[in-house]
Formats: sequence, structure tokens, C-alpha cells
Amino acid sequence: MRSDLSKVLFTREQIQQRVREMGNEIAIVYADLEPGLTIVPILSGSIIFLADLIRELPMRMKIALIQLSTYPGATTTAQEPRVVTELSADVRGRHVLIVDDILDTGRTLRSVQSMIRDRGAATVRTAVLLSKPGKAPPEVTVDFVGFEIDDLFVVGYGLDFDDHYRNLPHIGVLRPELTR
Ligand code: XMP
Repeated sequence: MRSDLSKVLFTREQIQQRVREMGNEIAIVYADLEPGLTIVPILSGSIIFLADLIRELPMRMKIALIQLSTYPGATTTAQEPRVVTELSADVRGRHVLIVDDILDTGRTLRSVQSMIRDRGAATVRTAVLLSKPGKAPPEVTVDFVGFEIDDLFVVGYGLDFDDHYRNLPHIGVLRPELTR
């Protein structure tokens, strides 16, 4: 699989270090908040990031899953996000931290952030591991960002192409000829 990448952007060690730092940043913000924190990971791309991030967070939390589809099948062209699996728990009155793998066009986060607000969350914040600056509309804001990257299609550490490469421990750029 490594040979399918034209470049590794972040090694396993660099990701581990940054996720630990993000955990510390997030822990400070939520240290004294009542009634409690609900993490909303957006499946499936966030699964590895989620697993590592929440083990850096010492506070009580609940997890409510939601699944969206943006890149159906073998494509790198995003389409309007579609809810595949509904939010698995009530978030009314809860402090919600949405967790996603990457902020790209912002369509996915725009739709999830507005859904969570509509359902009466006390506060809504967002953590993403990667962000492609300048692409998302201004109303889509993120509170915690791991790394900013150029506008390239990346895979690994949960990010996929046609559901492959999620298990790569590093994050890299897929060779362009493989996405054609
Ligand atoms: P939007 O464009 O809605 O994208 O901000 C968010 C979702 O799209 C997926 N995505 C990617 N997946 N490499 C991937 O493997 C990429 O470069 C990429 N850009 C966007 C991802 O699932 C994210 O949650």
C-alpha cells in the first residue's frame, strides 16, 4: 500500500504527537463544563482519529455516532453529503464536540453542525485532524485543527479512497493515476 502513495505527509509518530497535543487543548476547554460532553464522530473517516483522540481525554463523555457519505465509490470528487446512519443518541442540552477526519469543502461539517444545533445542543464545537484552508464557506468554523494541508487528495489514518487505505498508519498523497 505504501507504494500507492506519491508522498507521506505525516508519519505515525507525527500524528501521535499532534493528537496528544489536541487532546490537551480540548481537555482544557471542557474541564469544568456541565452537564457533560457528547462526542459526535462522523463515520467512517474519523474512526482512527476518534479512537486515539478520546484516549487523550480524561473527562466523562458519551459518544453519538453519525454516518455520512460524500465520496460514493471510487471517486475523489465530493458530492452533497447524505446521512447514511442517523445520529445514534439525543444531544439536547449536551456540550457537543464533532470529530471529523478532514475539513475540505466544508459541506459535511455545515450539514452536521446545523443538525446538531437544531437538535438543541448546549454548545457545538468541532475538531478535525486535517484542514484544507480557504475552501470551506465562512459559516463553517472549526475549533481544533491538527494539521493544515494543501489541496491534495490524501489517504491513511482513517481516510479512504473507495474504502481502501484506512488502515495505513501514516497519511499520504495517493498517486494521481490511481484515482483516475
Ligand atoms: P467536505 O468536502 O464535506 O469533506 O469538507 C469532508 C469529508 O470528505 C472526505 N474527504 C476526503 N477523504 N481524502 C479522503 O480520503 C481527502 O483528501 C478528502 N477530502 C475530503 C472525508 O471523509 C471528510 O469527512
